[in-house]
Amino acid sequence: MTGSADLVTTIDIDPDVTAKAAQALTATGYGDVHVVTGDGGLGYPDRAPYDRMIATVSPWDIPAHWWKQLAPGGRLVAPLRWRGQGRSVAFTYTDGRLISDSLHLCGFVYLVGDGEGELSGSITADELVSLHWDRDQAVDPEALRGVLDQPRVTAWSGTTIARNESHDGLWLRLTATDPRVCRIKVHADVPPEVCDPIGGWWRMALVDGDTLVYLTARRLESDDEVRWELGAIGHGPTADQLTEYLCDEIRSWAPKRNQHTPSLIVYPADTPDSELAGPAIDKTHSRFVLTYDPTG
Ligand SMILES: C[S@@+](CC[C@H](N)C(=O)[O-])C[C@H]1O[C@@H](n2cnc3c(N)ncnc32)[C@H](O)[C@@H]1O
Repeated sequence: MTGSADLVTTIDIDPDVTAKAAQALTATGYGDVHVVTGDGGLGYPDRAPYDRMIATVSPWDIPAHWWKQLAPGGRLVAPLRWRGQGRSVAFTYTDGRLISDSLHLCGFVYLVGDGEGELSGSITADELVSLHWDRDQAVDPEALRGVLDQPRVTAWSGTTIARNESHDGLWLRLTATDPRVCRIKVHADVPPEVCDPIGGWWRMALVDGDTLVYLTARRLESDDEVRWELGAIGHGPTADQLTEYLCDEIRSWAPKRNQHTPSLIVYPADTPDSELAGPAIDKTHSRFVLTYDPTG
């Protein structure tokens, strides 16, 4: 694709991986590819700038070195994480910003040595239920310890999905508008009477002070097919309002579920609020903005 393999550089931190990569590249006629053992978070300045950068490992933030080594108009594809969920994002570097044109659900191993990253904390004495959130979010796991022992409030949205129909767009949509969205992780030993989030690898939650609400689902059976109704389970002082709020959000998302995907714009960390296209998710080196109007 590049014409000359000499223009390509690949990095891994694990010398076993780079040794095997170098061997395989030589064996298949790509011996000119530069194979580097090192921290990919630093990029590789010796051969910069790059027209294309592809990360097959997930950073929590976009490392500052990547910004510096990407050519103007260049493309960056990386599996990123914000508000507890993960997306593979394809960007173009335009006017000092990274503007996405595709966002796909994904999960990846985390970049080693990523510095400050996602925060997490357990909310049960047995440590089997935990929350994961971004550094700019007001989540205090101590305020939520034991919250699952408080009475459970359940609300149903009336919105149903088919057995294998995805619902991750709901979480993505809320990341654009609600700074309370994060991830709940529940060990398989926890019985549904204690905590019963919707199935899947990563599960969406909302935290508001000492109230916790998470997405759930119940199986509905009709004569011809099995469907799942989406709903919300909450615990804590404002669980009534927050479960109803989540059900409203589910109902708003449902009719447009396959049509509207936001764009992610990433700005350098020192960009003032007045220059952002919307509210920011603040990382260490950058500011993420999800917007439905990337030209605005
Ligand atoms: C999912 S594997 C991808 C391996 C290979 N690049 C590929 O595409 O098949 C993720 C790789 O990221 C590497 N890795 C993790 N942290 C890294 C870092 N800070 N710098 C470079 N490589 C890193 C791991 O050693 C692992 O080999």
